[in-house]
Amino acid sequence: KSLPPVVFHYIPWFGSAAYYGEDPYKFFFECRDKYGDVFSFILMGRKITVALGPKGNNLSLGGKTSQVRAEDAYTHLTTPVFGKGVVYDCPNEMLMQQKKFIKSGLTTEALQSYPPLIDLECEEFFSHELGLGKEKKSSVKVDLLKTMSELIILTASRTLQGKEVRQGINGKFAQYYEDLDGGFTPLNFMFPNLPLPSYRRRDKAQKAMSDFYMKIIEERKKGETDHELDMIASLQGSVYKDGVPLTDRDISHIMIALLMAGQHTSSATSSWALLHLADRPDILEGLYQEQVKYFGKADGTLGPMTYESIKDLPLMDSVIRETLRMHAPIHSIYRKVISDIPVPPSLAAPSEQSSYIIPKGHFILAAPGVSQMDPRIWQNSKTWTPERWLEEKGVGQAAVESYTKSEQVDYGFGSVSKGTESPYQPFGAGRHRCVGEQFAYTQLSTIIAYIVRHFTMKLEVPSFPETNYRTMIVLPKNPQVSFTLRKQ
Ligand code: HEM
Repeated sequence: KSLPPVVFHYIPWFGSAAYYGEDPYKFFFECRDKYGDVFSFILMGRKITVALGPKGNNLSLGGKTSQVRAEDAYTHLTTPVFGKGVVYDCPNEMLMQQKKFIKSGLTTEALQSYPPLIDLECEEFFSHELGLGKEKKSSVKVDLLKTMSELIILTASRTLQGKEVRQGINGKFAQYYEDLDGGFTPLNFMFPNLPLPSYRRRDKAQKAMSDFYMKIIEERKKGETDHELDMIASLQGSVYKDGVPLTDRDISHIMIALLMAGQHTSSATSSWALLHLADRPDILEGLYQEQVKYFGKADGTLGPMTYESIKDLPLMDSVIRETLRMHAPIHSIYRKVISDIPVPPSLAAPSEQSSYIIPKGHFILAAPGVSQMDPRIWQNSKTWTPERWLEEKGVGQAAVESYTKSEQVDYGFGSVSKGTESPYQPFGAGRHRCVGEQFAYTQLSTIIAYIVRHFTMKLEVPSFPETNYRTMIVLPKNPQVSFTLRKQ
C-alpha cells in the first residue's frame, strides 16, 4: 500500500506553511480538487496528513487510542499554559475521567442558575462600560471582538469560574490572563520553547494563575460555604476510579484549561453571529419577535430569561448553529499517528488503484469546517442561512439528519463513540469531543438575547469582515459595529 499524495511545495522544510497558514480552507478545498480527500503536506518539518469529509473526520476523530493520540499533538502547546498533570499532560484515560468531573459540574441545576447572572452582567457591561442606557448615550460604535471578549470572560467568570474569579477580573487576574493568552498562539504551537519575552511572561503567568486558584480553594476550605454552583465547588472532592483524588493543583489547572477552552471559541462565535445579525436586520428582528413570543408579558415588557426557555428558542438555536457551520472556531484538529492507519479505498484519490496507509509519525488533521461548507452537501454553502435549520425538509437536510443534537458520547475507555462520521462537527466528535457545548449555548443564547432585546445593530465597515486565520481561533478582521438602543 502506498502513502497519500504530498502537496507540491518549493521549500523543503517550510513546505506548505504559507499556503495553509494564510487561508486553510482555500488550501483544503484546492488540494481536495487535486488530490482527493486524503493528502499529506509539510508544515515546518512536520508531516501532516489531511483526511476530509465525514469519512475523513471519522478516520481521525473516531480513531482508536492505539492509532492516534491527541496529547502527543497538543501537549507542547497546552501544558505550559494549563499547567501539569491534567488534560494533555496525563494519560488519555485520566483526561476522560477529568471530562466526566467537568460534566458533573455542568448539571441542569448549575446551568439553570446561569442566565439570570449573565443577564445582570450584560446589563452592567452595557450601561457602565459602554455607557448605553437611559439618560446616557443611545448609540455606540465598538470593535465587536474586543467587546465580546470582555463580555465572555465577565459572564464565564460570574457563572462557571466562580465569584472570586469574577472579582479578580478587574485586578491582577486580567494581566495573568493576557500573558497566558500570549503563550497560546500558532508560534507556540510550532515552537514550544523560544527564548522570547512572551514565552517567559507565559511561564510566569501560568504559575501566578495557578496560585491564584490555589488560594481560592484554600480560602474555601477554611469554611466559606457560600459559593454557588460553580466548577471549583464541583471539582473539589472528585476522585479518580483508582481512588486517587484530584489535588488542588489539578483543580487549578483544569480551571485554567476551561477558561482558555471557552474564551476564544465563544468570543469568536458570538462576534460572528452578531456580525451576521448586523448584516441581516430581518433576522435580528426575527430574534426580537421570538423574544416577544416566548417572554412577552401582558404589560408589553419581556420576562426574565430562564434556562428552560433560552434553550428552546428555534431561531436563536438556528442562528448559533449556522454561525458555527460557517465559522467553526477551530479549523484544524490534530492527532499524532502512533501506528499505521489504513485508509479505506473509498477515501483514496480516484486515480489510485490501491488504498493508502497513513504512517506512524505523521500527524492526522481533521477539518470539520470543510464538510460544513462543502457545496456538495449544503445548498448555498457560502451563505449564512439560519433558516436552513428551521426547515423540515430542504437545504442541507442530509446533513441535518445525520447530526443528532442530543447525542450522548460515552467517554468510557475503549468505547467507540458515536457521531464521528458527520458533516457537522463544530464541537468535534469522539472521545475528545467538547464538554462545553451546553455551557457555550447557554452563554451565547443569553448574551445574544440580551443584545437583541435592547439594541439594533449596524455594520460600521464597507463590507462584511473577512477572516483572520493567523490566530489559533478563526476570527473576524476589523469587526466594527454600532449598537443603538431600541426605542421603548
Ligand atoms: C474540546 C469546540 C466551548 C471545553 C473541543 C473540541 C472542539 C471544541 C472542536 C475538540 C478538540 C479536539 O478534538 O482536539 C468548541 C467550540 C466552543 C467550545 C466551538 C464554543 C462555541 C467550550 C467551553 C468549554 C470547552 C465553553 C468549557 C467550559 C472543552 C474541553 C474539551 C473541548 C474540556 C475536551 C478536549 C479533549 O478531550 O481533548 N471543543 N468548544 N469548550 N472543549 Fe470546547
